[in-house]
Amino acid sequence: MKILITGGAGYIGSHTIIEMLETTNWEVIAVDNYSNSTEDTYERIEKITGKAIKYYNIDLKDKDATHKLFLEHNDIQGIIHFAAFKSVSESVANPLMYYDNNINSLLNILACQKAFKVPYLIFSSSCSVYGNINELPVTEETPFNKTESPYAYTKQIGEQLVADFIKVNPALKAISLRYFNPVGAHKSGLNGELPLSTPSNLVPYITQSAIGKLSQLTIFGNDYNTKDGTCVRDYIHVSDIASAHVLALQQLIKTPHFPSQSIINLGTGVGVTVLEVIEAFEKVTDKKLNYTIGERRAGDVAAIYANNDKAKKLLNWKPIYTIEDMMRSAWKWEQCLNKK
Ligand code: UD1
Repeated sequence: MKILITGGAGYIGSHTIIEMLETTNWEVIAVDNYSNSTEDTYERIEKITGKAIKYYNIDLKDKDATHKLFLEHNDIQGIIHFAAFKSVSESVANPLMYYDNNINSLLNILACQKAFKVPYLIFSSSCSVYGNINELPVTEETPFNKTESPYAYTKQIGEQLVADFIKVNPALKAISLRYFNPVGAHKSGLNGELPLSTPSNLVPYITQSAIGKLSQLTIFGNDYNTKDGTCVRDYIHVSDIASAHVLALQQLIKTPHFPSQSIINLGTGVGVTVLEVIEAFEKVTDKKLNYTIGERRAGDVAAIYANNDKAKKLLNWKPIYTIEDMMRSAWKWEQCLNKK
């Protein structure tokens, strides 16, 4: 079986490739345009798995280049479409860039899925589609609120595009996976999150300030209506997210009556505040973080965490890593980067 991973050099893409190479005999083809990653990722994947994969530098907004890839590999059986911009704050500042990239690349992937009759698609969605929700945890049935950022809206639109497309293409199947907050690194410490510029996500910001690359961490607001005033998120280990992708594809392949389209939350079900993340990091690393309280960040929701029953039932999946594991592995990766 040949599987195409878009955004393969990125954070979640690379961990999913590792999981796939370690647990299946599928052939993996990866594409990326290195807008927030580098080709080195594939060396790290090879170091961890002992396997080399074929990879391409393609911008999926380029219709012809995307089509050419599918022509070269006209036996692709499954696509996992990770490639997208993902910074909430950047999307607030530059919405057109987000709509252009995230929507057009998905349209081109769907057109190729149809043209080349690729039976299975997994689409990377996000819990940000829910917006600000009062009743927690959120289930897949929880109605959306207004999204807080263009990034989140691109994911709402993306899910709808996939749904409308699959409805009129009954031979094809798709699952949209709504990630909560993926963090942590591969247990080897040899692969992890590697933003090319100053990180916008919390955990790389924490590890980079702990190692001294950044001078101070700012907590974006402590006046939210939560237990300690800081935002609540459902942090989930990136390797747990990766294993869910492999299981999702396996379920699509082996279960003939699997719904032709489904939406599944990927979270641990546990809400954790920003201060609790900091505390967990300090506990497992024995380091004190230099942080200050700043203004709220535009685009943030106050609190969200998942009901993950559907993932457990449909995918036979269970997250296994704790918040301490997430912090420990993220720190191991940051130290590994620093040795270079
Ligand atoms: C959002 C999405 C998530 C998506 C991710 C992609 C929500 C609820 N979640 O994550 O599904 O995968 O974008 O980037 O929309 N923070 C600080 N200081 C920092 C950085 C972050 O206090 O320097 C706080 C944020 O205000 C937030 C929490 O840490 O409360 C997590 O932020 P971040 O890691 O950026 O992820 P989200 O924006 O929650």
